[in-house]
Amino acid sequence: QSTQISRIASQASTPPRSVVGIGNKVAKPDYSEAKIVVAMVGLPARGKSYLSNKLMRYLKWLEYDVKVFNVGQLRRSRAHQKAQQTGQKEDHTASYFSNDNVEATRVRDALAEDSLEMLLQWLKDGGNVAIHDATNSTRSRRAKIEQRVAREKGIVVIFLESVCDDPAVIAANVALKVSSGDPDYKDMSREDAKRDFLRRIKEYEAVYETITEPSLSYLRIRNVGDQVTLCHIHGYLQSRIAFYLMNLHLKPRSIFFSRHGESQFNVEGKIGGDSPLSERGLRYASALPALITDNIGDAPLTVWTSTLQRTIQTAQHLPYNKLTWKSLDELDAGVCDGMTYEEIELAYPDDFANRDEDKFNYRYRGGESYRDVVVRLEPVIMELERQENILIIGHQAILRCLYAYFHNLPHADLPYIKIPLHTVIKLTPKAYGCDEERYTLPIGAVDTHRPKPGSVTPLPPVVANTGREYFQKD
Ligand code: F6P
Ligand code: PEP
Repeated sequence: QSTQISRIASQASTPPRSVVGIGNKVAKPDYSEAKIVVAMVGLPARGKSYLSNKLMRYLKWLEYDVKVFNVGQLRRSRAHQKAQQTGQKEDHTASYFSNDNVEATRVRDALAEDSLEMLLQWLKDGGNVAIHDATNSTRSRRAKIEQRVAREKGIVVIFLESVCDDPAVIAANVALKVSSGDPDYKDMSREDAKRDFLRRIKEYEAVYETITEPSLSYLRIRNVGDQVTLCHIHGYLQSRIAFYLMNLHLKPRSIFFSRHGESQFNVEGKIGGDSPLSERGLRYASALPALITDNIGDAPLTVWTSTLQRTIQTAQHLPYNKLTWKSLDELDAGVCDGMTYEEIELAYPDDFANRDEDKFNYRYRGGESYRDVVVRLEPVIMELERQENILIIGHQAILRCLYAYFHNLPHADLPYIKIPLHTVIKLTPKAYGCDEERYTLPIGAVDTHRPKPGSVTPLPPVVANTGREYFQKD
């Protein structure tokens, strides 16, 4: 490999200026035919919004255009407008959600229908997956949705029912609703809010009908992670959605990311390759076990590495089960593998500029783009969702892609995310998103982050370093 690298590098130092197009911009896959309504079904506090947001994050990461249409939000914004016009505040306490409240039931049905109309328009304007986040807990509501969507050619509806009979999960969801500054309860004490929300749930329970309609396409999830029922799920995207939802669980856990220790190529400023660790990189590998075991205690952990020796060497002292993934290998820089950025700029100035202009889409000749990497990491994400505590010893581009999934970051920013060497990033999934802590080991390393040229200041880390420096124990 090193012979090949030096040959490319020496060719690169006398570049024929006419050489252009070592790589090219690769367009986004054409998803224009994919048009799905995912209509949520479930009592309040059964994790419907949690599932909607998770699904949105996953599909957006895969570049589908996804939007959640939350009927509760529409209800509040309409009520707010009305209050401004008339000075009258609508009562949205539990009695509003009672089936005996004929007027409110009419208004709520109308809101759900309006939300569906907005969602269908959004799909017709180019969207791919529209999530109707409402309770849709009666057969008649679902029948209306099914009939309305059936009038739209090329759009299908699947229902996603979340059933939960685990009192601990319901209690946690109720607590989250009343303590998170939910707009329904902003003027109430926590005790009153909890009382009212439990009464609201009772009102829904009185009329709730689980899905049994034989004609519907649906997925029923019982206690996220326990049991999934599928009925009339067809086609690629629907199956993909189903497979993703089947892999989710709610057990508390953390995911740790670390790049390999500093490598010899890092020191020389070369990209790619399969070089061993530098002396400082080896020190990082020796220091890593104490940091991880201090953090994880006795809990089980599995370490995933790529097939490249710098990640395997970094994991060598870790006393945990290890797994090697080819999919975790660094972004393949094709003909530029083994070159420094300066050499690439000199040899292929146009390509170098093209990459800076649109780094996510740029594919190295004979190599990959960031988009290609996202596609090959999809099974890794699926497995990460299924597993509990995992430590990934990876590479700069790989960890950027995984990090963007967990923090729902836009693809244009993804190739500039700061993932420094000799730093462990701990992500702890929460109801909406992830908590993050960063631990920096006091072992120097080169900085391999190249900011986007022309950007006024380099992008700040998206989640600030907690400032905690981790010092290795004796
Ligand atoms: O420099 C280290 C490295 O992991 C290279 O092997 C890889 O090509 C590069 O980072 C990816 O970062 P960027 O996309 O910013 O060039
Ligand atoms: C809501 O208004 O908060 C809501 C979820 O609406 P519905 O139960 O009518 O779907």
